[in-house]
Amino acid sequence: MKVVVYPGSFDPMTKGHLDIIERGAKLADRLIVAVLVNANKMPMFTLEERIEILKAGTTHLKNVEIVPFTGLLVDFLKQNGARTVVKGLRAVSDFEYELQMAQANRDLYPEMETIFLCTNVQYSFISSTVVKDILRHGGDISHLVPQEAINIIEKILGGKDNGSGSTGRN
Ligand code: COA
Repeated sequence: MKVVVYPGSFDPMTKGHLDIIERGAKLADRLIVAVLVNANKMPMFTLEERIEILKAGTTHLKNVEIVPFTGLLVDFLKQNGARTVVKGLRAVSDFEYELQMAQANRDLYPEMETIFLCTNVQYSFISSTVVKDILRHGGDISHLVPQEAINIIEKILGGKDNGSGSTGRN
């Protein structure tokens, strides 16, 4: 069985992430979306909330699982019998960082490979930070985030517009 891992912080998931998940799922018998607390980032959503949002946005994909992880990605791969990581490249600016991560991971686990999928052009500007900025100001994210995921986000935030236009979260 070919197990492929798509790691990230997904704070929150976007249509760009879903694009990679759908295409990655076609390359795998089992695609694990590995959700991590990135210590360098201040999240808006808790790990549990991010998982709930991801699950809602991926219910149509039968071979996709959403799993939390801590520690090194290579250890997660070994624990789950995976040797392949999939990541999306949105622009040349992503490449330098992703190359460094892929090389560092392969240095730790030489049997693994990282596959890069070129993000569809309509998603090349999307990031979780853009989505969070729009959310904080009560804007429309329907073109950036799958509707099933928005339903959970709205439930978590207690309604997109609380009167002040601010979610009160980071
Ligand atoms: N569509 C839309 N947005 C995308 C995207 C896509 N296809 N691909 C990436 N992004 C966005 C992400 O949402 C994120 O946005 P943000 O900065 O606004 O939050 C940004 O691009 C960067 O994504 P990424 O580089 O994947 O960072 P991440 O925080 O989501 O995930 C890990 C980083 C978890 C993959 C990485 O830190 C990791 O593997 N950590 C484990 C520890 C480890 O093993 N380290 C290496 C040892 S050397």
